[in-house]
Amino acid sequence: MREIEEKAARAYGERFGEEPELVASAPGRINLIGEYTDFNGGFVLPCAIERRIAAAVGAAPDGRGALFSADFDEEVPLDGEREGSWADYPRGIAREFAQSGAETPPFRAAFAGNVPLGSGLSSSAAIEAATALALNTLLGLGTPRKDLALLCQRAENDFVGVPSGIMDQYASLLCGAGAALLIDCRTLESEPVPLDLEAAGLALLVCDTRIQRSLADTGYEDRRENCESAARRLGVEELRDAREKDLERLSGEELKRARHVVRENDRVVEAVRVLREGDFAGFGCLMHDSHLSLRDDFEVSTPELDAFVDAVRESGSLGARLTGAGFGGCAIALVNSADADALASSTRRAFEERSFEEPVFYKFRPAAGAEVVS
Ligand code: GLA
Repeated sequence: MREIEEKAARAYGERFGEEPELVASAPGRINLIGEYTDFNGGFVLPCAIERRIAAAVGAAPDGRGALFSADFDEEVPLDGEREGSWADYPRGIAREFAQSGAETPPFRAAFAGNVPLGSGLSSSAAIEAATALALNTLLGLGTPRKDLALLCQRAENDFVGVPSGIMDQYASLLCGAGAALLIDCRTLESEPVPLDLEAAGLALLVCDTRIQRSLADTGYEDRRENCESAARRLGVEELRDAREKDLERLSGEELKRARHVVRENDRVVEAVRVLREGDFAGFGCLMHDSHLSLRDDFEVSTPELDAFVDAVRESGSLGARLTGAGFGGCAIALVNSADADALASSTRRAFEERSFEEPVFYKFRPAAGAEVVS
């Protein structure tokens, strides 16, 4: 068991006075490329990270379901309404299972995690996926992972109240170690794209700008509406179906948002091609183009994210871009392993000069998706 899984199991034992029946855990993610394409029926290329949330679960013998967070040292009843806290995610998952017609007797769960919260590394998808996989196993439901991802997305959309796409939950449940996952968000088909960065002397450096944001109160929903209205104007079902020449028929915000989505989809397809050829320099250029498009057309970047991307460019590293929804959160860079520490230091200095919050850096390798560990 990983440390975080042991922590959840221990917390369960201490809290509820008996051993959990099983422990499952699920990772956060970074997205290599393909931003804001998921809810437009397009392509994304995320990978799981070595930070996870673990859920230790067991039946509630007295019929009183309970949820305990070891990190917040807080216990709440399983039944309850949305309250704007960590408990919304497991409650939302339990509710979705019940609504899907599954027999869901009350259960108890203890959680422990090390995915940074509110940083755009999908801690919410990690707790949803860990809960969903744990319950699916505990209750012997046999729901396939893709359906679990959809169930998690419904919990996020309908219970938590964030109109997110499918990427994060799908990535957390279906990614595999050592590879990114190309997901077609329309058909929900996916294929691994091996990513052996170490062999190429490269690393993925993640810069957490520590500007926390919640998708519930950012422009995420506006962006989604812009995309849907652009698709309506073009007479297509989703922007996935729009082509470059269609953009001539749009103007203003709709044009900018749609231009990002149409070109970003093409970049994902191109990224998979160059990565399969081991052309990391080519991939770095696509990352940079993606960032500029998110900055100028989709308008979801921040001065901190731009400062990191500029620092990476000046250092001569391969490429960088914001990852996830933007509006703060994290950016990723593809760098020579040997240069990563120097780049982190020079970024820290650049941030200090501009009186930005001190950033935090991580180096991640594509990690395993959700697992039942005991
Ligand atoms: C958030 C959402 C995803 C996706 C990204 C942007 O992470 O949860 O569904 O839309 O933003 O690519």
